Amino acid sequence: MTEPIIQMKNIEKHFGSVIALGGVSLDIVPGECHCLLGDNGAGKSTLIKTISGVYKPSAGEIYFEGRPMRFDFPREAIKAGIATVYQDLAMIPLMSVSRNFFMGNEPMKKIGPISFFDHRHANEVTMEEMRKFGINLRGPDQAVGTLSGGERQTVAIARAMYFGAKVLILDEPTSALGVRQTSNVLATVDKVRNNGIAVVFITHNVRHALAVGDLFTVLNRGTTLGTAKRGEISPEELQDMMAGGQELATLEGSLGGTV
Ligand SMILES: Nc1ncnc2c1ncn2[C@@H]1O[C@H](COP(=O)(O)OP(=O)(O)O)[C@@H](O)[C@H]1O
Ligand SMILES: [Mg+2]
Repeated sequence: MTEPIIQMKNIEKHFGSVIALGGVSLDIVPGECHCLLGDNGAGKSTLIKTISGVYKPSAGEIYFEGRPMRFDFPREAIKAGIATVYQDLAMIPLMSVSRNFFMGNEPMKKIGPISFFDHRHANEVTMEEMRKFGINLRGPDQAVGTLSGGERQTVAIARAMYFGAKVLILDEPTSALGVRQTSNVLATVDKVRNNGIAVVFITHNVRHALAVGDLFTVLNRGTTLGTAKRGEISPEELQDMMAGGQELATLEGSLGGTV
């Protein structure tokens, strides 16, 4: 068994009187995709922000590579290899894929005393890295804005991988996508996981989770009932946990049918 790269123990996060996380424990393991499910407001984003250095937990411990994790800023987490891809992606649509790929990490070339952005190197790397994920760009100058939503997600994921991510966190990467684009993103997640990267995949779609997940944790109002492994839980059970099974059963009863 592979050791977890991240262990969260009884993590709490309070915002004033709001308890966003009420004691959550979970492990994140290299080469596995850990799906975090739950309805809006369940605490999913808050949980990953405690991993990525955005928030400090109000209580509990997080271990990264076996040692207590102390990141004061998101950039420290990124440097340690924890990459987060948010839905808004932080890309500039009018700029080329290549420029976006290297944004903040511009490769420089020196000619005499003057440094230049090394376009050739950036372009070659971008084309190659995108090809690895099954995207054949028309050219490195193609603007990000001309890509589909799924392809943009893949640019962001490929970029994180190229710059050394060990843990890839995806916050609802499929929630705004159509069926075909969703399956492209799921295929990308599968490749990343098969390369030995630890993936945290947030979704409120049970089918998307079951398509790529190895582990499933359902958050409900900041708490979890635990983590299930692939094959240990049926789609129906997962859906019930998501919906707060009991509430749904009651509703079904009172409506006299299936919800
Ligand atoms: N910065 C914040 N300040 C105050 N309350 C917050 C903040 N972020 C999240 N919350 C609250 O914490 C709860 C969990 O939110 P969130 O983690 O965004 O849920 P999810 O991502 O599962 O939809 C919600 O009740 C939300 O309103
Ligand atoms: Mg969220």
